Amino acid sequence: MKKLSAMFAPRFAIWPTLPPDVHSRSETEWRPFPLNQENCRIFSRARQAICSACKALGLGAGDTILVPAYHHGSEVEALLQAGLNIKYYEIDSALEPDEDTLLPLLDDQVKALYLIHYLGFPQDGSWWRKWCDDRNLLLIEDAAQAFLSTRDERPVGSYGHMTVFCLYKTYGIPDGGAVVSIKPPAPPRLQPVVGYWRILKRHLNWVATKRGEVGLLHALVKPTLAWWKRTNDKPHAEFDMGDPDTPPTVMTIKLLPRLLSKDTAQKRRENYRYLLEHLGEMVPSQFARLPSGACPFAFPLEVQDARLFLERLHRKGVLGLLFWINPHPSLPVDDFPRSRFLRERVLALPVHQELTEQDMRRIVRAVHECRAPLPTEFVAAG
Ligand SMILES: Cc1ncc(COP(=O)(O)O)c(C=O)c1O
Repeated sequence: MKKLSAMFAPRFAIWPTLPPDVHSRSETEWRPFPLNQENCRIFSRARQAICSACKALGLGAGDTILVPAYHHGSEVEALLQAGLNIKYYEIDSALEPDEDTLLPLLDDQVKALYLIHYLGFPQDGSWWRKWCDDRNLLLIEDAAQAFLSTRDERPVGSYGHMTVFCLYKTYGIPDGGAVVSIKPPAPPRLQPVVGYWRILKRHLNWVATKRGEVGLLHALVKPTLAWWKRTNDKPHAEFDMGDPDTPPTVMTIKLLPRLLSKDTAQKRRENYRYLLEHLGEMVPSQFARLPSGACPFAFPLEVQDARLFLERLHRKGVLGLLFWINPHPSLPVDDFPRSRFLRERVLALPVHQELTEQDMRRIVRAVHECRAPLPTEFVAAG
């Protein structure tokens, strides 16, 4: 009986959903950074923007870039495909680069520092820009998770020689990787696709937060999806570049101006604070205080085994994200224990702006239930 009700539970994904009324909304005038910059280009994915923008900056074969060991992996693949060599650095306990760790890595080949704004929490861009300028290095900011974040009233990403953003992580559009750069690349040249399928998925995710039947549908097709995944298993497929010349879908360009809102960051902060209030003891210390200008992408939880905890949450309709369990294959994992710890222990919960107070209560309840000791039959089945 319990299992049946779980099947009909609403489902909350980490990705922002797409409300059905978006098609009848009018466009807003507001264009936040970097969309208001003349030197901004939009690609389908941020990885494609990174690769093209590095080349446009003159970075390539023979050049080295310092990259944090705690990374998604697709950005590393993009840098490698642009021809760069990578030297990894470990982040400190505040998830910031540590000058003492960076200095011994510098040599004549090192041309740039890669700085990631984790989960939308702003790094000190101003300080790192000066640090780079003093050493004749380029600062590349990765704001993939930090679109709409600010620090000291200034947009995150505005200090970098080049900065990249994922627009679809903040709004329920099919894709969109924006880059702003002192030497922007040419706009992507391929013909855009419309993006109907991905629009449908985002709409379905919206319905799934209201109607459990969609969750049931998912549960029914799940065995087929799992089989398909197993037979088409490509390790590290999540880092695939695709064609670097891929533009955003037609739907992304059409719908983004109808979704952009000055309230988005505030709503995400409210949801984040709600989770902090109710799950604060499970948050990694670096994310326990929300900076005033942050536009959080997600809410991190530290658990003993992130993969297992996430599976349990899935069964309760909360589709979190492992953050980030698989590093790029070029990373010597054992040399970077802090990054490895975070990969194994941290998962992320949704805080996007379409979630209601009732949704947030349900997410908290699901986490509490997953923390409770499991009945023996569950352990055996799991
Ligand atoms: C920190 C970071 N940088 C870059 C990317 C690449 O973004 P995209 O998937 O749009 O290529 C991601 C993707 O998740 C990311 O998390």
